[in-house]
Amino acid sequence: MEFSHPMTNLSTTVQSKVSVCDHPLLRHYLTILRDCETSVEIFRMAMKRVSQLVLIEASRDLPLSPRNVKTPITETVGQTLSPDVPLLIVPILRAGLVMGEEAAQLLPTARVCHLGLYRDEETYLPVTYYNKLPDTLSYEKAQIFVTDPMLATGGSAVAAIDLLKKQGVPGENIRFACVIAAPEGIENLVKHHPDIYIFTGVVDERLNENAYIVPGLGDAGDRMFGTLKH
Ligand code: PRP
Ligand code: URA
Repeated sequence: MEFSHPMTNLSTTVQSKVSVCDHPLLRHYLTILRDCETSVEIFRMAMKRVSQLVLIEASRDLPLSPRNVKTPITETVGQTLSPDVPLLIVPILRAGLVMGEEAAQLLPTARVCHLGLYRDEETYLPVTYYNKLPDTLSYEKAQIFVTDPMLATGGSAVAAIDLLKKQGVPGENIRFACVIAAPEGIENLVKHHPDIYIFTGVVDERLNENAYIVPGLGDAGDRMFGTLKH
């Protein structure tokens, strides 16, 4: 069974900030991710596939520059990613690592700046433990991809984007790329950062009493790295 929340409970303003990347392959691999019988190895593979599809959508508006190339047949003018626009991938540790690696494959000139955040198990509030955002980048020009597969309460995403904005990144240059988003997390992220864009594979139904996404896929980090306690 596949769940896909039509977002009708979100206001049109909020909906306009969210892009749900609809593709049959994404639905296929998402269902593998949801399945609690999926092994760690297959989970990571499916996470890569879904991430790639979301990230292709999230990079649709990247600026291009013309470049002369000589093909084996003739000369022509092609287009490559603009060298004047710094690209920054910000994976949120640890579940955002695989998405971050996929983003780095797609955007080979990008810098990868990890942010370590975890959700306190009692308060569900994010705790920052690692920050590799450079001080020297010209952030006002940079195009940013924050990667984290799960947007649950939105606390981690809000905290990550707070840190980026403190460095001077304009919100409209920030894309938050995830695999599953809860309506509560979308609302929270758009409320705090109405100028960013969210790209997701699906919008699920809701959060449960432990702030896990329903139907979701469980704990993304633990399933990806095989650290489930039971
Ligand atoms: C997960 C996930 C997000 C966060 C989402 O991380 O990867 O970062 O929860 O929840 P939120 O929207 O309510 O903040 P977790 O705290 O489990 O850390 P981990 O990735 O290191 O396992
Ligand atoms: N983090 C996860 O990994 N899964 C959820 O459902 C919520 C937060």
